[in-house]
Amino acid sequence: MTTESEAADRLEFLAAEIARHNRLYHDRDSPEISDADYDALMRENKALEERFPALIRADSPSKLVGAVPSGHLAKVQHAKPMLSLDNAFADEDVAEFVARVRRFLALPEDAEVALTAEPKIDGLSCSLRYEKGKLVQAATRGDGAIGEDVTANVRTIADIPQTLHGAAPAVFEVRGEVYMAKADFAALNDKLAGERVFANPRNAAAGSLRQKDSKITAERPLRFLAHGWGEVSEVPGETQTDVMRAIERFGLPLAKAFVRVTSAEAALAHYRAIEASRADLPFDIDGVVYKVDRLDWQQRLGQVARAPRWAIAHKFPAEKAQTLLRAIDIQVGRTGKLTPVARLEPVTVGGVVVSNATLHNADEIERLGARPGDRVVVQRAGDVIPQIVEVLTRGEDRPAFVYPTHCPVCGSEAVREEGEVDIRCTGGLICAVQRFERLRHFVSRGALDIEGLGEKSIDEFLELGWIKEPADIFRLAAHREELLGREGWKEISVDKLLTAIEAKRAPDAARLLFGLGIRHVGIVTARDLLKRYRTLPDIRALAGDLIALREATVPALGEDDSRFRNRLDKAIAEKIGVENVGSAVGHALADFFHEPHNVAAWDDLLAEVAPPEFVVDTIASEVSGKTVVFTGKLLTMSRDEAKAQAERLGAKAAGSVSKATDLVVAGADAGSKLKKAQELGIRVVTEEEWAAIVAAAG
Ligand code: IVH
Repeated sequence: MTTESEAADRLEFLAAEIARHNRLYHDRDSPEISDADYDALMRENKALEERFPALIRADSPSKLVGAVPSGHLAKVQHAKPMLSLDNAFADEDVAEFVARVRRFLALPEDAEVALTAEPKIDGLSCSLRYEKGKLVQAATRGDGAIGEDVTANVRTIADIPQTLHGAAPAVFEVRGEVYMAKADFAALNDKLAGERVFANPRNAAAGSLRQKDSKITAERPLRFLAHGWGEVSEVPGETQTDVMRAIERFGLPLAKAFVRVTSAEAALAHYRAIEASRADLPFDIDGVVYKVDRLDWQQRLGQVARAPRWAIAHKFPAEKAQTLLRAIDIQVGRTGKLTPVARLEPVTVGGVVVSNATLHNADEIERLGARPGDRVVVQRAGDVIPQIVEVLTRGEDRPAFVYPTHCPVCGSEAVREEGEVDIRCTGGLICAVQRFERLRHFVSRGALDIEGLGEKSIDEFLELGWIKEPADIFRLAAHREELLGREGWKEISVDKLLTAIEAKRAPDAARLLFGLGIRHVGIVTARDLLKRYRTLPDIRALAGDLIALREATVPALGEDDSRFRNRLDKAIAEKIGVENVGSAVGHALADFFHEPHNVAAWDDLLAEVAPPEFVVDTIASEVSGKTVVFTGKLLTMSRDEAKAQAERLGAKAAGSVSKATDLVVAGADAGSKLKKAQELGIRVVTEEEWAAIVAAAG
């Protein structure tokens, strides 16, 4: 049975761990765990909160409304593919579109080609399937052939009727755009302030629609405008206009500016009218879509690749302005990413004063050839972050911008990893912006697990200059008296903290290695490395060998870059010689130990702590030599910890149940694996019984 204090600890861990995974997923786009494992953490959190409602934390992940769009929505095959559109930018492109239609249909040059014209809404397209008038399925566009099932979420959108009005055909798929109005977007971001905010209404709409929990979608002000149809058992009309008006009668909204025109000139006039009203429209649009009105012509015109020949999107030019590029600064993110930022002479672009613009990365600066002192064109498109799109006067006499080779914050080397555009500071532990994050990670439950050293205390000690790197944590006792004099600290809490720190002087080597936050070295990789290398000095020696290997490996005569890279990566993976540990880990280890600051921080740390040699399968137990499968939701430990326990007891932890399985540990809500174990007559124990086996082994 989990005690209340264990549950509180676990909830604290889950809040921090889930927040960390959110950051990895969203800010770094480099998740460490699978969606399934992420969901398991969320489920565990929810189950514990249901059992101990009094312990629900203010920072509980279940309260995170800005929550994560999941990669786990079910897939839906579209009955008819969802197409995209070709673009037109100039008036001539529109005239050419109409001329092409005439040519294709072999119509006389003066034949009237009626078109519909309507705004191109900046949202995400969605297909709504009605059967016998009832909404049965809603899916996102996805790749056009297969989308994601968002039925439950779409049911929360007020613009979308659950039942079509009047007598609708037996099967009718309405297609259109799910979007968020500008004002609703601004209000939502205000509400989310402090949490994750969305960059623009389109992202907000996408993030809100692609939620696993439709309760979150329900709280988001999503709207819908129809712009077409998919599979239908009967087409209610002979023209685009007829069918769109029928869709309107079925109860779905159409854009107000939907019109029928009979010439390219009239289409362009409508384009200009919509463009003029753009700022006053309640939602973002990025152009006007023209479609051939006659459906028999649409049929004959068909499609090329994934865009119909009978439709075209006439895009608005992005709003632009000229200004002076005063300077290029480098910003360092909390994860070490270096981003160049253009400092501009303030200029108004589309009603907004812009004084900074992103230059994205080193490639972009080079592509533009931007130098401080240049006159540049800034553009503000749908996205909120303005960009530099063009350099007008290139100051050849001025020095070109030199991308720093070292982090402007800490001076460590900044490197670009293979296949990546971003340059990252390798300073890790010593870089001020990354320090907090790294220290937080170092003491977290999955790493050193120092109780009582939360984010607030880390912040406080950083501020005081007492801690800069992990080793400093072990020297905090020197500040005992000063700490006692500070607000919020009492003898009990100070001693509790110092005792918790002392208790970690002989930490598990894998947790310590993981705690250093070396890229790509998660707990599983740390453990895999230590199984082979046993001690941290041996890991350090491995890193030294990898650095030497990188330096000694040079391209052969005539060997191109990618071949050389492959050869080097292979050599690195071979040198490591550990299954499941590849060259990315090798490069990360080499980068980390190539940096003298990191080496110093590492040496300093190892002077404070002495992790025992990493031991595997030493303890004899009733499961030694057996194969164990964990299934369902474990409440008192993570799956990783359970597997590590099994390994420590000399058992093998397997992922699936088969005849070779000796024992299944079934947590809450265990499903198919439990069933299979029962069918095969395999011994099944509860999480508590497993804990007893572990305890008995000592
Ligand atoms: S028609 C076969 N009409 O733009 C034609 N699309 O760039 C398919 N969009 O995936 C689309 N407003 O998400 C059409 N009035 C409109 C639109 C519109 C926005 C989106 C739609 C489509 C994308 C293509």
